[in-house]
Amino acid sequence: MKPSNLPYGLDKIRNDFPMLKQTMHGKPLVYFDTAATAQKPEQVISTLNLFYSNNYATVHRAIYEISVEATKAYQDSRIKAQQFINAKSADEIIFTRGTTESINLVAFSFSKRFINRGDEILITEMEHHSNIVPWQMVAEERGAVLKVVPFNDQGILDYEAFLKLLTSKTKIVSVTHISNALGTVNPIKKIIEAAHEKGAKVLIDACQSAPHRKLDVQKLDCDFLVFSGHKVYGPTGIGVLYGKKELLEELPPYQGGGDMIETVTFEKTTYNVVPLKFEAGTPLIAQAIGLKAALDYLDNVGLDKIEAHEAHLTKTLTDILKKNKRIRLIGDAPEKGSLVTFTVEGIHPLDVGTMLDLKGFAIRTGHLCAQPTIRHFGLSAVDRVSFGLYNTEDEVHRFSEALNEVIKLF
Ligand SMILES: Cc1ncc(COP(=O)(O)O)c(C=O)c1O
Repeated sequence: MKPSNLPYGLDKIRNDFPMLKQTMHGKPLVYFDTAATAQKPEQVISTLNLFYSNNYATVHRAIYEISVEATKAYQDSRIKAQQFINAKSADEIIFTRGTTESINLVAFSFSKRFINRGDEILITEMEHHSNIVPWQMVAEERGAVLKVVPFNDQGILDYEAFLKLLTSKTKIVSVTHISNALGTVNPIKKIIEAAHEKGAKVLIDACQSAPHRKLDVQKLDCDFLVFSGHKVYGPTGIGVLYGKKELLEELPPYQGGGDMIETVTFEKTTYNVVPLKFEAGTPLIAQAIGLKAALDYLDNVGLDKIEAHEAHLTKTLTDILKKNKRIRLIGDAPEKGSLVTFTVEGIHPLDVGTMLDLKGFAIRTGHLCAQPTIRHFGLSAVDRVSFGLYNTEDEVHRFSEALNEVIKLF
């Protein structure tokens, strides 16, 4: 292989991702939709292949050798997830199907235990639908009030409004670390401290931060933190729910079935200890093992390097787009994650996306599962470019040329 003149051996990294060698409409694929889902490195694909081919067995239930080994591998994945976010104990890691299920689990179990009529749940105007709808459902069921912290036209959360909306009735604040639509990085440390002063618990939706920057749940002191495996270069169908152990112990289970029980009689069931109490049914064994391979991969590359590289790409594209008078940036907060959302004057976002697709660029179009966020700007659809650790500056420049060609057509 040629010596790399790209940052942190990017040509070697790109070589790890078979999908990046594919074409779209006969053009080399430029994958700019990592905020939706990340491509998978060979290390994750081969780990799954190996597990299914050589080591596959159920966990927790059998005494034979391959099951004992699968159980160990499953637990190693939990320990890896614990280390990845610096949780105090592996018991604080619950495997779910993804961020959506993690939030639904907390909304269901936390509200059953702690939310009563007249209590308040606080979210923000820039949440993904999966951090809005579960709370709406719970608020309706419990007779609680859902309150929403606004953001300004730059996409910055109104912290003063947050402080005013936070009251002694607030039981939980559920907030995204980085907005999937605006890229805004929220001041979660400050939010957590202020919420705790009022006695409220805090859930951090780290879906858009876990793949891009180092997280430390002990330093943050958040009560819950959630992210999805498929966005951290792992398989689909696996997510992480971190919760402080003493809090998890107080919550009732989310689903009933195998694995989450201690004893079952027709009269009464007693539940397993945390985290198994929240993992009903045959666990997501292969997915968890694939997730470990993905987290190992991220740690090997180094999240600090990834963050710096993606910040450079984001700034490069933002600076280019800001020079074009026909482009409106959606979300221009001073601290942003690795995505750029925009519209082009006089061209529907879906037309922009379709024309770029024909040129080999995979970008996201539509409401980004954040209709209230997009509606803030009087819009129902936008275009979004989002970066992963494998994107290059050259791709950004090729994108800018392709976008200019599209704009000239209209
Ligand atoms: C900020 C944020 N929260 C939650 C989700 C939902 O994640 P999943 O669909 O993996 O459950 C997403 C996915 O796009 C997201 O970006």
